[in-house]
Amino acid sequence: MHTPRLGQRDLFPALEVDVYLNHAAISPPSVAVRAEVLACLDGYSRQGVAWFSRASERRQRLRAALAGLMGVDAAHVALVPNTSAGVVDIALCLPWQPGDRILLFRGEFPTNITPWQVAAARHGLELVWMDADDFRLDRDRALKELARHLAAGIRLVAVSVVQFSTGQRMPMAAFGALCEKYGAELFVDAIQCLGGAPLDVAGLGIHYLSAGGHKWLMGPEGTGVLYVAPQCAAALRPEVAAWLSHESPFEFLFKGPGHLVYDRSIVAGARLVEGGAFNVLGVAGLEASVGLISQLGVEHIYAHVQAWHDAIEPELAARGFVSGRMADPDGRSGILSTQPPGTAGAAAWARALADHGVSCASPDGWLRMAPHWPNAIAETTRVVAAIDSILAAGGPPA
Ligand SMILES: Cc1ncc(COP(=O)(O)O)c(C=O)c1O
Repeated sequence: MHTPRLGQRDLFPALEVDVYLNHAAISPPSVAVRAEVLACLDGYSRQGVAWFSRASERRQRLRAALAGLMGVDAAHVALVPNTSAGVVDIALCLPWQPGDRILLFRGEFPTNITPWQVAAARHGLELVWMDADDFRLDRDRALKELARHLAAGIRLVAVSVVQFSTGQRMPMAAFGALCEKYGAELFVDAIQCLGGAPLDVAGLGIHYLSAGGHKWLMGPEGTGVLYVAPQCAAALRPEVAAWLSHESPFEFLFKGPGHLVYDRSIVAGARLVEGGAFNVLGVAGLEASVGLISQLGVEHIYAHVQAWHDAIEPELAARGFVSGRMADPDGRSGILSTQPPGTAGAAAWARALADHGVSCASPDGWLRMAPHWPNAIAETTRVVAAIDSILAAGGPPA
């Protein structure tokens, strides 16, 4: 049993980076994740198919653990290979009518745009656009605009809970309430939130959620979760159904002849997308990382990460970095993004910081720092020293 401690990275002994601030990109596996992945591989190495029942039980446990993080029932949760797969599945399975309107947000990660564009081209849907950043710059005005669009008739709103570039947490309670008022459905990409910040999915009125496992959930790539609200399950069309989407899909393998039939009913809701053999190694790793997160408690992790941001944000401001973090705590997340001073740009700053042992990112022109539970607050001093040294050298090399 591994015991995680906030601000301690003793479960990451192999990590070669001095200060790892890229949990919004890919989290490195902890020793707990590595151990479970290797144990699963060993199990299959020793027993082959006999290990499958353990992998299957683990899958059920993981669905329940992820449901717990979201405050929903595990019956409405499926495991998917990544965020994109969950978006594509819902975009394919929704019973669209020609002319249905989807509200999208400029500035979103493309995962939550492309599948809706494809659905629009296929079914003759209309895409309506707002700017995600308007909700950071003038939230009240943007919410009024959102209400105007919804009042004009929107079938589905597709938005990320946390914007990948600025780190803005979108006003999900207002989104949920407005969608309910105007009869729209709410789809969220939660990969930049789940595991790093609390998310009351049922309470917020979210209808569909997709989130990959390799960022704030700290599992391996190739894992993820899809939630479908119970009231939406029956309407989904089984456009992505395959052999494991059926009720009792294994009977023809174990019950003798006569069970190989092709008209078994297909499960309704999220589980219909679990159509075939799954990523057992990834699921083993994700169960381990979610276990550590649950031991610590997402509320505590979030408070710790905010303390990290609080420690560095004024230091950055004093050096000319303009923070994108909202003054309103409701608009914050695990991501602290800034616009660096001078003309070098965020990408050059990220490269220069990497040379000083600090791993961060530069999505869409923002310098993004994304610490998680293993990051010590004291690391902020190290990051500031790296920045001072880059500034003393005249800024990052071009
Ligand atoms: C908001 C957001 N959605 C989706 C993804 C990735 O999607 P997927 O899990 O399909 O690779 C990222 C980052 O990689 C992201 O920041």
